[in-house]
Amino acid sequence: MTDTKPYSKLKIIFKYILYYFSAKGKHSVHSPLVYGFITQVLKANNNCKYLAAERERKRLRSNPAIIDFVDFGKKGMTFQKKIETIANNSLKSRKYAQLLRTTAQYFNAQHILELGTSLGITTAYLTYDSSVRTTSLEGSERIAQEAKQVWENLNLAQIQCITGDFKNTLKQIPKKSFDMIYIDGNHQYEPTISYFEQLQKNSHDKTIFIFDDIHYSPSMEKAWKHLQSQPQVTITLDLFFIGIIWIDASLSKENFVLRY
Ligand SMILES: C[S@@+](CC[C@H](N)C(=O)[O-])C[C@H]1O[C@@H](n2cnc3c(N)ncnc32)[C@H](O)[C@@H]1O
Repeated sequence: MTDTKPYSKLKIIFKYILYYFSAKGKHSVHSPLVYGFITQVLKANNNCKYLAAERERKRLRSNPAIIDFVDFGKKGMTFQKKIETIANNSLKSRKYAQLLRTTAQYFNAQHILELGTSLGITTAYLTYDSSVRTTSLEGSERIAQEAKQVWENLNLAQIQCITGDFKNTLKQIPKKSFDMIYIDGNHQYEPTISYFEQLQKNSHDKTIFIFDDIHYSPSMEKAWKHLQSQPQVTITLDLFFIGIIWIDASLSKENFVLRY
C-alpha cells in the first residue's frame, strides 16, 4: 500500500524547487489550449481581486470559537478545533483561490462542483458570477454552517451545500454535467481515483477536473500518475499545488508541468 502520510515540510520544499526549475513557460508550449491558459489565466491572475471574500477569510482567522466536527477524511473521527485554526490551515490560499476563479471565468464554467467545502471561502471564489450555480460537498455539518454564513454575508444565494460523507453525497448530487469539478477533500489514492471515476457520469467533453495537493504524499502522487494514464484523460497540467485535467477527446494527449 502507498504511504498516505503527508511529506515533511522539508521534502515539500525540496520537491517544489525541483518542480520550479523543471516547469515550462509559454515559449515551450505548442498546445493552443495550454498557451491560452498560460497567457490568459496564469499571467492575468493578479488582476482578480475579491476583497469581500478576503474580509470573510480575515473574520474567520480571528474567530477563536471551538467547534466539534466529524472528519470523514480521518475515518469519521470527531475532532475539536478553533475556527481560526481551520481558516489558517485548511483553506486554499488567496493566490490559488484567485487562480480557480480566473480559470472558471476564462472557461465560462456555469455549473461547478466542489468536493470539500470547509469554510466556503474557495467556493465563494469559484462562484464568480450571478449566473454560476455551485454545488459544494462537505462532511461536517458544523463546518458547513460556518460556510453558509460566509455565503450569506457575500450574497451568494446560488451555492448549494450537501453535507455527509462523499461516498454517500456523491450519489445525491444533481443528475447533470458540471463544467468544472474541484476535488479538495480526502487526499488519498483510492478515494481520489474513485471520485474521478464516479464523476465521469457528471461530466462532459469540456469538463475541467481540478485536483488539490497532488504532491501532498506518495499516495497522492500515485493517484496523479494514475489519473494521467487514464485513456479518457488528454491534457494534464501540474502546477504543483494543484493538478488540472481535460477529458476532451479532440485534444492530443500530453502532460505539462507549468510554472506558477
Ligand atoms: C482541505 S478542506 C477544503 C478546503 C476548501 N476547498 C477551501 O479551499 O476553502 C477539505 C474538507 O473536506 C472535508 N472532507 C474530507 N474528507 C471527506 C469525506 N470523505 N466526505 C466529506 N467531506 C470530507 C473535510 O471535512 C474538510 O472540510
